[in-house]
Amino acid sequence: MRAVDVIMKKRSGFALSRQEIEFLIGGYVAGSIPDYQVSAWAMAVFFRGMTPEETGALTETMLRSGSTIDLSGIPGPFVDKHSTGGVGDKTSLVLAPMAAALGIRDPMMSGRALGHTGGTLDKLESIPGYRTNLTVPEFRSILARDGFAMTGQTKEIVPADRLLYALRDVTGTVESIPLITASILSKKVAEGAESLVFDVKFGSGAFMKDASDAEKLARSLVDTGAAMGKRIVALLTDMNEPLGRMVGNFLEVEESLDCLEGKGPEDLMEVTLELGARMAVLGGKAKNVAEGRRLCESAIASGEAKRLFFANIESQGGDAVKFLSLRGSYRSAHEGAVEAEGDGFVAALDAWKIGLAGVTLGVGRNRTEDAVAPDVGVQILKKSGEPVRRGEKVMRVWAKDEASLDAALPLLRSAVSVTAAPPEKRILVLKEIAST
Ligand code: URA
Repeated sequence: MRAVDVIMKKRSGFALSRQEIEFLIGGYVAGSIPDYQVSAWAMAVFFRGMTPEETGALTETMLRSGSTIDLSGIPGPFVDKHSTGGVGDKTSLVLAPMAAALGIRDPMMSGRALGHTGGTLDKLESIPGYRTNLTVPEFRSILARDGFAMTGQTKEIVPADRLLYALRDVTGTVESIPLITASILSKKVAEGAESLVFDVKFGSGAFMKDASDAEKLARSLVDTGAAMGKRIVALLTDMNEPLGRMVGNFLEVEESLDCLEGKGPEDLMEVTLELGARMAVLGGKAKNVAEGRRLCESAIASGEAKRLFFANIESQGGDAVKFLSLRGSYRSAHEGAVEAEGDGFVAALDAWKIGLAGVTLGVGRNRTEDAVAPDVGVQILKKSGEPVRRGEKVMRVWAKDEASLDAALPLLRSAVSVTAAPPEKRILVLKEIAST
């Protein structure tokens, strides 16, 4: 078999066999098929799509590219949550300790910044000392002790996603339903979760711009995951505006802690509680969503979720004292602001433009070898619906250097629209799709 023939077959719109998919992915992980051929194949998949059978075969091949995490001996229930990618989307950092406080174990395998969206691993690594490259024994013992553990794909666990994820990030091949499905589910099955909650985003800051495409992605995740024996609930949630007020690595960890202290912004808390409620139901801790929400709220009110957040920081090598000493001040010296250009109400804050500007500021990467900056990003001072006066600051901005700041500011300015009348309130959670 030759990689070029597999690429051309997909380019011509034919379905690939399991053997062809295994050949391509296996060769990529083994180093015998180069990046440029896998990039070309990913672009062909982007344009031609995959059948459900191909998507299932790709997911299983990626899963089997390494070993899986054996959670036997650790009491469950094991429930995890994953987002299809958003801007300012830090719900995982709040949900993992919140679920753990309810007695759920969350074995969380996450990714890095992808395209214009942020990555849980990059956020966590902005905590001084925090390690996301856990060995399997470390992952198991932290999960058993703290109720959750946070890790990334490694050379041993889903190496195929580790490579493909980084390649897609810089080759314009992220927004593909089969590639997203296989990327997410290969990680989620490898980590050992029994039940999964997916936050499937739609809107300008999501990979699926409209709700009908997001629904197709949700269906693909639910059906592919159910065929692999998982119980799944997917929520379609709005990503037209960043979630919360912070976009950036350390900034988002700070805001996650605000949430755990009961001071989280309304939109972020709403999405977090809706997802957490489903985790509680899937984990058998609540009879219905309303009860699940109440349990999540009390996990925050009691301080237990916050205690577990700090326990996990210590367990994963983070320096909690240093983290707290940096809170509110860990900001790059290259600072700017975006001001309102008229009087009225903020009508929109385009999440896609803010996410793209974030990459320029240093939150994400332009090339796989780029490092991300911990202390950069955007603080949204005025969310949509809030009144503003001409010249008033809408955002504070921190960049890795002056050139990046100059490049990002025009994009950020164009992300803000102000109207005379207040905009309609956004519907944050549009729909739920569950496996039967
Ligand atoms: N999250 C992932 O893990 N993979 C994707 O492709 C998109 C979001």
